[in-house]
Amino acid sequence: MNDVVSASAPGRVNLIGEHTDYNGGMVLPAALNIGLEVSLIPRSDSAVAVSSDGYDAPAIRDVADDAVGGWSDPCVGAIREANRLGLLDAGVTLDLVSSIPAGSGLSSSAALIVAILKAARTYAGADLTDIDIAIAARRVENDYMGVPCGIMDQMTVALASPGSAMALDTKRMEYALIPLPASHDMVVLHSGITRKLTDGRYAARKQECDAAKRFFGTEDLCLIEEETVRGSDLADVPKRRALHCVSENARVHSAIAALDAGDIGEFGAVMNESHASMRDLFEMSLPAIDALVNDAVQIGAVGARLTGGGFGGCIVACIAKEEREGWLGEVLSRHPDARFIDAVSGA
Ligand code: GLA
Repeated sequence: MNDVVSASAPGRVNLIGEHTDYNGGMVLPAALNIGLEVSLIPRSDSAVAVSSDGYDAPAIRDVADDAVGGWSDPCVGAIREANRLGLLDAGVTLDLVSSIPAGSGLSSSAALIVAILKAARTYAGADLTDIDIAIAARRVENDYMGVPCGIMDQMTVALASPGSAMALDTKRMEYALIPLPASHDMVVLHSGITRKLTDGRYAARKQECDAAKRFFGTEDLCLIEEETVRGSDLADVPKRRALHCVSENARVHSAIAALDAGDIGEFGAVMNESHASMRDLFEMSLPAIDALVNDAVQIGAVGARLTGGGFGGCIVACIAKEEREGWLGEVLSRHPDARFIDAVSGA
């Protein structure tokens, strides 16, 4: 009889540093309390049979199936990668239990792939590191699912746990864990607008950044001087995308310094500046999300911003713990489509 192996991974929220992770920049994500758990039983045939608490009917696929745009694609891609790495050698039966809403920008797909690869690592008794797992999980998204994402989500869900933020340098692949403040909650609210990284808008932004990288002859768009970008002959659209990347990278450094110094007012201020840059320069927000962010701040948050890939999904707001309940009631009464997802803070 085959043994069952299990692994789990959290969802994540990015506190600041959007679209910097494929441009050589910094990000500051944090693990959430919500997450998912995977149980894996290797099979002798090539089937990938997946049951999930989120879907009524199980998916039965073949490990050789190419991605077809279905909910089980991350599972098939992860098993193909596990076979490629020599962790498994055929199909599997998988059972998923998840509290991460899909299509919300909270890395449900990265968490699923990372958890499957960790379960396969346990089964094989292999000595892959969590960073190796994160890199392999990104390969599944990039090469199998066709999502041109960076490394932020996979690194966070493979290595972080709730209570601290991960200051990750995506160029050097070095990180530091920074305790979150105990006085404030980082509250994640879903806007009510679902989004998918596969819908083309994420890829369009990446292509615009790629055009700017070609123009400047660098892979590290975030590391160019702002004056160099401003003074260049780069066309208007890629120039605005580049200005977002450069300034957003500087804001991540400011946010880390503010957290280190316990200056929550400054932390909130850079969150607000980040939202303005995503709205005006990177053009990844939507009017309904701008309204939610504005009201979150007006009602009392020290800062708020869209989080994740953009064009829908969630916002993150920083609010004093003792004000949270009243604040939340008021925000949700003004935005009936929005809903509370999770909140993280330091001990
Ligand atoms: C998605 C991607 C990440 C990152 C963010 C934007 O979450 O998966 O790699 O690019 O969007 O910051």
